[in-house]
Amino acid sequence: MSPLTIRPARAEDVDVAVPVLHDSMGGLADYLYSGDPRHSVDRYLARMFKIGGHRFSWDHSFIAEVDGRPVGMLLSYPGREINALQVAFILRLPELYRWSAPRVLWRAAGLLNAPETDADEYYVSNIGILPGFQNRGYGAELMAFAEDQARAVHLPECGLSVDEGNRGAVRFYERLGYKIVFSKTFSGKLARYESGYHRMVKTL
Ligand SMILES: CC(C)(COP(=O)(O)OP(=O)(O)OC[C@H]1O[C@@H](n2cnc3c(N)ncnc32)[C@H](O)[C@@H]1OP(=O)(O)O)[C@@H](O)C(=O)NCCC(=O)NCCS
Repeated sequence: MSPLTIRPARAEDVDVAVPVLHDSMGGLADYLYSGDPRHSVDRYLARMFKIGGHRFSWDHSFIAEVDGRPVGMLLSYPGREINALQVAFILRLPELYRWSAPRVLWRAAGLLNAPETDADEYYVSNIGILPGFQNRGYGAELMAFAEDQARAVHLPECGLSVDEGNRGAVRFYERLGYKIVFSKTFSGKLARYESGYHRMVKTL
């Protein structure tokens, strides 16, 4: 099997970024970005990834490649950066979503009281391996890379949030040593898209 290589992402990496962001965000991507008949959710995700400097952009991402071909992506950063990156994201909403910005902001506000990460952990915001390349150990390699990033900045823990309905991903993280430390059940309109999530943490 060809080895996996990992490199910093570029704004042009949308072809791998969009499916990874959509799959890893689960129902939340549809909750945040659906409702505009002019633009698909994936078109919003592509625009979001290409504009740098916020919590879902290329400049916080790494691309996993096999034989020079992108097969997956990791979007991660120290947890202490999340508030500044979130503010940067909100400030870019008018540029990103134009007339849909108020709707996206309104829906995103409903998520703000859901704890995602801690200041002393390295946060795996999004990770995904393209469907044709799953179950070959690449996801585990990308998680090991994230843990190396954590150690490089002297953070003692790695953490993430996962859709409680994504049982395969929960099992995958448990096998890698992650433990559920908090669970939240969503209600209202949001619950129609995702029932809730687990926060999982591993001490390195
Ligand atoms: C979750 C995800 C990242 C895992 O990536 P992956 O590359 O399939 O992960 P791995 O191959 O390392 O491990 C997956 C399984 O394959 C098995 N496996 C690992 N290496 C293997 C190999 N060489 N051959 C066969 N199977 C292997 C593992 O035992 C593991 O089993 P488990 O799920 O029962 O723990 C991937 O399924 C994915 O992208 N899902 C969609 C997006 C998503 O849900 N992201 C997470 C949101 S928080």
